[in-house]
Amino acid sequence: MKGIILAGGTGSRLAPMTNVTNKHLLPVYDRPMVMHPLGMLVDVGIKEIMIVAGKGHAGHFLELLGSGADLGIRLSYAVQEKPGGIAQALAHTEDFADGGSVAVVLGDNIFGDRLDLSGFSKGARIHLKEVDDAQRFGVATLEGSKVTRIVEKPERPETRYAVTGLYLYDAQVYGFIRALRPSPRGELEITDVNNKYIEKGQMEARVISGFWTDAGTVESLYRASTLVRELRHGRRED
Ligand code: DAU
Repeated sequence: MKGIILAGGTGSRLAPMTNVTNKHLLPVYDRPMVMHPLGMLVDVGIKEIMIVAGKGHAGHFLELLGSGADLGIRLSYAVQEKPGGIAQALAHTEDFADGGSVAVVLGDNIFGDRLDLSGFSKGARIHLKEVDDAQRFGVATLEGSKVTRIVEKPERPETRYAVTGLYLYDAQVYGFIRALRPSPRGELEITDVNNKYIEKGQMEARVISGFWTDAGTVESLYRASTLVRELRHGRRED
């Protein structure tokens, strides 16, 4: 399986820090943000990884990571000209995926768990986490352990299960993206892609046990650093 990190978008919520570098290169405790999702893929032996970067300070990714040789991997890069949504960023990776399955991680998502690829062969897999502020995320409705639908940033969430930014997809994903129309916020939504897999009965959902946070706002960036620090010092288990 190949790996993909989506690191487009403007990072405007982190200005003025993002005036001088890319959001995904801001520090999360002991390393630049993108190195956390990257490490997650590398740790399970994924050797070919593509980073989709936004235009702002995109060259800084090369300065930091280069060819990936230092990490023992092969890195490729694509540029998303405008922040047209997560699914639009993912569309840039179709040739790279070359008909195979992909593990996709959002560049501002930080996980305490190790990635578990076991048992995945086709369809899609999402990873859920119970949170107190579900209205900030894609929210999953469940019947037993089965996801029946996902609603993007609902005003009144039906459950506390946020859809985290870690997705496993087979090659059908690119066809689904081609059929998407922009959402009211003008983006190609990854939630619409996931709902397509749910409609086809090809979506599996796992609840993750370790911590999870995004790092795209000042508060969540601070929280991400604290969580990683606690993990490094062995003081966090959930
Ligand atoms: O963090 C998980 C959440 O991420 C999910 O629960 C939501 O379903 C999903 O839509 C997304 O929500 P956000 O609105 O928080 O996503 P945001 O726009 O902050 O983008 C998150 C990352 O996705 C960002 O760090 C880089 C990547 N991205 C985003 C956009 C809009 C791109 O690569 N290109 C883009 O155009």
